[in-house]
Amino acid sequence: MTAIAALLLLTACTPRERQYKIGVSQCSEDIWREKQNAELRMSAYIQGNVELRFAAAYDSDQRQIEQIDSLVASGIDLLIVAPNQIATISPAIDRAYDKGIPVIVFERKTNSQKYTAFISADNYEMGHVMGEYIASQLHGKGRVLEIKGLEGSSPAIERHNGFIDALKDAHSIEVVASLQGDWTEESAYQAMEQWLSANPNTMVDYIFGQNDRMAMGARKAIANSPSSLLTPLSTLFCGIDGLPDENGGIRLVRDSVLNASYIYPTHGDKLLQVAVDILEGKPYNKETKLMSALVTSSNANVLLMQAEETMHQTAYLDQLHEKADGYLQQLDTQRTITLLAVILIVLLLIVIVLFYLYYLGRIKQQREHVVSTLWNMKTEDIPAPEEVKADDTPDNENPESVTTSLFISRFKEAVEKRLTDSELSVEDLAADMNLSRVQLYRKVKATTGSTPIELLRTARLNRGYAISSC
Ligand code: FRU
Repeated sequence: MTAIAALLLLTACTPRERQYKIGVSQCSEDIWREKQNAELRMSAYIQGNVELRFAAAYDSDQRQIEQIDSLVASGIDLLIVAPNQIATISPAIDRAYDKGIPVIVFERKTNSQKYTAFISADNYEMGHVMGEYIASQLHGKGRVLEIKGLEGSSPAIERHNGFIDALKDAHSIEVVASLQGDWTEESAYQAMEQWLSANPNTMVDYIFGQNDRMAMGARKAIANSPSSLLTPLSTLFCGIDGLPDENGGIRLVRDSVLNASYIYPTHGDKLLQVAVDILEGKPYNKETKLMSALVTSSNANVLLMQAEETMHQTAYLDQLHEKADGYLQQLDTQRTITLLAVILIVLLLIVIVLFYLYYLGRIKQQREHVVSTLWNMKTEDIPAPEEVKADDTPDNENPESVTTSLFISRFKEAVEKRLTDSELSVEDLAADMNLSRVQLYRKVKATTGSTPIELLRTARLNRGYAISSC
């Protein structure tokens, strides 16, 4: 019983929280996205009931469309998407939304209204701040070159608009070119290389890359063009993203490789929180604007220290999570072992009980056999007590039967002597055998398994049968 209760206790599952499957469709794969994915993963650990399914489209519209469709087909409960370009990805996002899947668009916009929430920093504001900063660095006078991100992606358009608007009033600042990149370092390198060979004698004071990687691509192209007027030292560079990693903007600013950057917040934690709020039917903001900040040589060091501390904590949390995972696995194994042990014990108990019942049955059978053999023997055939030897007892397999046969023969004799006496009672029989009524009952019951009354009844029946068959 206890074992079965333990078994039930072990197998009983505690009611589980609902598990949410969230698809994350990233347009690219780079250090900015890696940081964000890591934050999403960390928040999912803490949340506990979220399974994340990541897909990276490596800047391909077609790939991102296919990935969104297959995330939807895999049964996700919510889609988080950074669309590669404004117009191209909308049909796939609309399809997901029309199926009733909540959609969070983040960081890059679409031309569709079919989304549940939008989360991003303000890209126009970012371009504007960079324009103002460059103007102040050049004291209102100089030549500026811009390298734009992927054509058709909303941050590229908005950063450009903000940047140009900020410089409108700075009449002595000339934007000598706005080159087309695609957010990668290589694209900026190539665009810059081409421009340098087409404009070998044009001076540029400041290069604004719409992200840090493109600012670095332009810088490398200049460093590798000895014939050009420009050198990495004669030109200032700034970008956007401001990551704290090895090749990130904050470090590059601290090391004076870039003149400035702007933190483009990743905030995977906020993203996941909004996702969970939507899934749990809690209130959420349809539009969330993430706050951000300019990185210059005056704050790069502090920002880096803070970011390193956060990264340290994140790595620590990651380790803790791995440990907890290990413990949970151990616990699972132990549970299985305990369960198997309990099942084994229960089976063993069942076997023991069955065996015991079988044994009892055998004993009963033997006893009945002895009694009926003895009872049906003629009294003179029952060996007298002094004649009984182990070998010639009716059932010589069992030494106990010797005592049994002696007692039965005495009892049978007593019964048969008075069988004609219809008034014969158990008390009379007991008295004949010099036993008390209780002693006789116990002994008869112990040796034959039947009560004296039952045996008396059998004897009377046997007698009746014998008379009628004569
Ligand atoms: C990362 C990235 C960033 C840039 C942003 C624009 O994939 O290219 O460098 O700031 O996307 O959407």
